[in-house]
Amino acid sequence: YVIGVDLGTSAVKVLLVDQAGTVVAQASEPYPLAQPHPGYSEQNPDDWVRGVTKALQTLLKTGGAAPADIEGLSYSGQMHGLVLLDAAGKPLRPAILWNDTRTTKQSQEITAKMGARFLAITRNRPLEGFTLPKLLWVKENEPAIFAQAKSFVLPKDYVRYRMTGKLEMELSDAAGTVLLDVGKKQWSQEVCAAFDIPMSLCPPLVEATQRVGTITPEFAQASGLATTTAVFGGGADNACGAIGAGILKPDQAMCSIGTSGVVLTYEPDAAVDYHGQLHLFNHAVPNAYYSMGVTLAAGFSLSWFKQTFAPDVDFTAFVNSAAAAGVGAHGLLFTPYIVGERTPYADAKVRGSFVGVDARQTRGDFVRAVLEGITFSFKDILDIYRQNGKAFSQLVSIGGGAKSPLWLQIQADIFNTPIVRLQSEQGPGLGAAMLTAVGLGWFKDLAACAEQFVHGKQVYQPDPVAAAQYAKLHALYQQVYPATAPITA
Ligand code: XUL
Repeated sequence: YVIGVDLGTSAVKVLLVDQAGTVVAQASEPYPLAQPHPGYSEQNPDDWVRGVTKALQTLLKTGGAAPADIEGLSYSGQMHGLVLLDAAGKPLRPAILWNDTRTTKQSQEITAKMGARFLAITRNRPLEGFTLPKLLWVKENEPAIFAQAKSFVLPKDYVRYRMTGKLEMELSDAAGTVLLDVGKKQWSQEVCAAFDIPMSLCPPLVEATQRVGTITPEFAQASGLATTTAVFGGGADNACGAIGAGILKPDQAMCSIGTSGVVLTYEPDAAVDYHGQLHLFNHAVPNAYYSMGVTLAAGFSLSWFKQTFAPDVDFTAFVNSAAAAGVGAHGLLFTPYIVGERTPYADAKVRGSFVGVDARQTRGDFVRAVLEGITFSFKDILDIYRQNGKAFSQLVSIGGGAKSPLWLQIQADIFNTPIVRLQSEQGPGLGAAMLTAVGLGWFKDLAACAEQFVHGKQVYQPDPVAAAQYAKLHALYQQVYPATAPITA
């Protein structure tokens, strides 16, 4: 057996997977998210460790596998979160997460200081969500804490450190710090020097499928795992999501709808250039890359709306109430910029809107508008790919957005592209299990593993009439951002 640990933003999910790629058991543990000020988003790193420990205990109890038969374990991690450690390896403050937007000033300073050179090295624009702006924020606002820092890691790297005693950072996640020379796969001395970040803070790098060690006796005791279980690097959640969806060739792409959402494709090398409009990171597939655009509030827009206006309604019934509304939600348009937006606008200040509110609309229309608005935002990302000469013959849909047949059809119609739903849909946790399986040598590479582990189930074909209506509505949707950016910021 192998275990995939999916360290998400709201919860950790652990999967026990056998050699045939079957998920034989799973368990999940939530942890709190603190938003002490507007734009702040923090978690206590030790809550992750507690959550992972508890989820593993449940997995071992319910999974029926003897701990000694679990050959390996690896991770998928929420990206970019800053975990600052002192000399004893203890967190100096709560982790500042990927969806924390306090760092606009620092992001702008990075651009002002390094501009095009920064993009050339890190292959990304220094957006608020990435780690370097967070490091600079702590340096500026909490100098006493920064002075005590001996290293920094990312969420899953911290958990791996606590499970193995080995402090390392894995490459696909390291790319999301924007301190990495993405083409060279090394920490960038030039970027560190420009912002006075001591190179000594940057931990040694490991590949996703690299074996980093085994479970410490303390963690074995706490969780029930055996000390013989091998632990592998793991990957950034989007990289693992892509692997778990079988996106392992340049003509393949996926649309993943979780709290945030992405449209992502595989890049065989770093030669591609989207001029910073899309993110380009090292992949968890050794030596490969992936590009993606991010909608910050994807599933989050829907859960916010439900929580605020229909907390007591069953979730499936709530989503299905959008069916009766029909294409266009009777004239209602929603932009999902409720926590700012990354792609295509890179604007942390903009806020969302409902446009075209009409007295005859029902709550179902609003749900429909939210589903459509989120999907229009993905369409904006697909358009960037198209403008760069990339069209996909189909998209694999994963995450919350793949659970609803109605939303899958909306995706097919808005993208005007067939949408594949997976039978093996387990999200990034399965990708983490696959990294483990390849690390252990069960398969020669991830493509061979995907043949065994990843299976399509159903294809949603676009409806030509709906696709034509959505093309018009998307053009209207695109007019909302420039009109609302000045009044919502
Ligand atoms: C990607 C990003 C999010 C997180 C979610 O750049 O910030 O998708 O990875 O965990």
